[in-house]
Amino acid sequence: MAVSIKSAKEIELMRESNKRLAEVHLAMEQLIKPGVTTWELDEFAERMIRNMGCVPNFKNYEGYPATVCCSVNDEVVHGIPSKTRYLKEGDIISLDMGLIYKGFHSDAARTHGVGKVSPEVQQLMDVTKQSFFEGIKYAVAGHHLHEIGNAIDDYVTPFGYGIVYDLTGHGVGHKLHEDPAIPNYRSRSKGIRLKAGMTLAVEPMITMGTADVEWLDDNWTVVTADGSWAAHYENTILVTDQEPEILSML
Ligand code: MF3
Ligand code: CO
Repeated sequence: MAVSIKSAKEIELMRESNKRLAEVHLAMEQLIKPGVTTWELDEFAERMIRNMGCVPNFKNYEGYPATVCCSVNDEVVHGIPSKTRYLKEGDIISLDMGLIYKGFHSDAARTHGVGKVSPEVQQLMDVTKQSFFEGIKYAVAGHHLHEIGNAIDDYVTPFGYGIVYDLTGHGVGHKLHEDPAIPNYRSRSKGIRLKAGMTLAVEPMITMGTADVEWLDDNWTVVTADGSWAAHYENTILVTDQEPEILSML
């Protein structure tokens, strides 16, 4: 496993790529309301990304047909935008997307409530987001990769939630998916030693039920096996000798 270390120049381009992605996420947040289709959200994101002179990196990735993964309620990740999927009050939607700027990939996901959501579902979203911040406390040069997932697990498990096992975070930069895979759950092994200049996409996927997931017949959409709702939160970060820099947040 070769984990790339980005140079100062490459880090600058990663910053720019992720800053643009963060802007798209912020703009999209305003569009989340009852009656909007996931197709419309995808069209908006693609237009905004291309207007910035950037390229959506999910589109055509292993045949993925859209710019954004729009995963609603029991859909965990990789939901395909649809002209007939209307958001309704109380739903939750994970928007996952990335872009390429001067050859450098960014990747980030947010889960939003549609209108007013139940307190239970709000807690799921809050815990999922916080678990990312708990995990990246250990994304520091000299620490080991699996400390991230251990910290996520220690934080999330007491809530009785499921941590998806079948999907992980990943290195990101020259490509959308680089080494290493980054589990969001406790591992026996320590994992590689982290070094300054690694750029990582840390992305906990958390369910209100069990961790088991299934793939729909479209071969993309990942849903919970038990129908429980799921949330997803992701940022691209830069490992340094101190706190990580969260590149995909403004
Ligand atoms: N953000 C997703 C991941 O984390 C990528 C989605 S797969 C794609 O790795 F095909 F849609 F790009
Ligand atoms: Co990712």
